[in-house]
Amino acid sequence: MVQNIFAGKKVVVGVSGSIAAFKVAGWVSDLTKEETIVSVVMTSSAAEFVTPLTFAALSGNDVHTGMFCHGKEDSMAHISIGRDADLVLIAPATANIIAKLACGIADDLLTTMVLATRAKVLICPAMNSRMYSHPTTQKNLKSLKEVGYTIIAPACGKMACREEGEGRLAEWDGVKEQLAQNLSPQDLQGQRVMVTAGPTREPFDPARFISNRSSGKMGYAIAQAACRRGAQVLLISGPSSLACPPRVTLLKVQTALEMNDAVLAHAANSSVIIKAAAVADYRPEAVSEHKVKKEKIAKELILTRNPDILLALGKRKKKGQVLVGFAAESTNLLEEGRRKLLEKNLDLIAVNDISGDTTGFEAESNQILVISASGVETLPHTSKLHCADLLLDRVQQFLNKKP
Ligand SMILES: Cc1cc2nc3c(=O)[nH]c(=O)nc-3n(C[C@H](O)[C@H](O)[C@H](O)COP(=O)(O)O)c2cc1C
Repeated sequence: MVQNIFAGKKVVVGVSGSIAAFKVAGWVSDLTKEETIVSVVMTSSAAEFVTPLTFAALSGNDVHTGMFCHGKEDSMAHISIGRDADLVLIAPATANIIAKLACGIADDLLTTMVLATRAKVLICPAMNSRMYSHPTTQKNLKSLKEVGYTIIAPACGKMACREEGEGRLAEWDGVKEQLAQNLSPQDLQGQRVMVTAGPTREPFDPARFISNRSSGKMGYAIAQAACRRGAQVLLISGPSSLACPPRVTLLKVQTALEMNDAVLAHAANSSVIIKAAAVADYRPEAVSEHKVKKEKIAKELILTRNPDILLALGKRKKKGQVLVGFAAESTNLLEEGRRKLLEKNLDLIAVNDISGDTTGFEAESNQILVISASGVETLPHTSKLHCADLLLDRVQQFLNKKP
């Protein structure tokens, strides 16, 4: 498994003559930074909006514009460009290019290359909202879907023509996630994965609570990675400032009791459960309806035990279900991990070292110790998204083994 799903992948970006072409220059730049090998094909109208030189400089590769390039090394570019591509992205896609592709017209390099490739094709329409909603454009998009192309719906909002409506080029974050999914192995397709993330908040009055340092980054990364690999993902999250990854279903909770109810309600319906949330072990015994004046706050807070959600899940684990726990430890990682694995009837436990700055709570990266009945593995220190993928590789091995 490579560290970054985009690295080394060959993506052809087809740019047509929309005012939104300048935005795609930024997309090409970002893909290139991710070490994607980007080849850009432009229509002659596209070159009216952004120069081929811009795309050449940003991608680090020659830009293809004309079909008949006499004297050039590759006179069959219309065939060779898409031959070994992992993916073709047409963005922005004009009403004209969509119509031509729907009819199988091949009168320029871009349309001919799309007919010749067998790579997945993703299309990002961008046009005035009346052009987009026109029955002919809609019929053409339907035809393209039927051939197996993915249409990434445009956004709604203010357009360059100063009108408002549906037709704006989709936002890069969502498009990038679709590319990631299309470049990822779909080895979790058909799996229903429940991931918990973030801290819980245990209030003692409407203004104050006890909580922990969990940011939710690890759990959100697992949800994102599982979704990219084709799983249907339910993310149950405590308070976190992170945005929910695209196509993941988010259920927000505040307290450990709410987390407990939400998790147990959805457990039976999940084939994989990954509990990355840092659920508070205790909550204040008494919760005041109104804010307690500081002079009246007792010096000692009386706490009561929260339910052990992982223990409950282990007890009711269904046949074939894979249960993964997380443990945040600062000492005796291996012993603590082994103890929890057995005590809570887990298939895997990921132990986080929370004593440093570059792993565990709040960090962008992580290093986990993965313990199962068959042994212990120290995974590399890497980004949380890559760490999530490495953990999912181990989950995938369990799914293959289980009946
Ligand atoms: C300023 C300007 C902006 C345009 N923006 C769009 C657009 O966003 N979407 C679209 O479908 N056509 C747009 N067009 C029309 C296309 O450029 C025109 O249909 C052209 O033939 C498309 O050629 P191509 O599909 O080969 O790139 C625009 C035209 C002009 C003059």
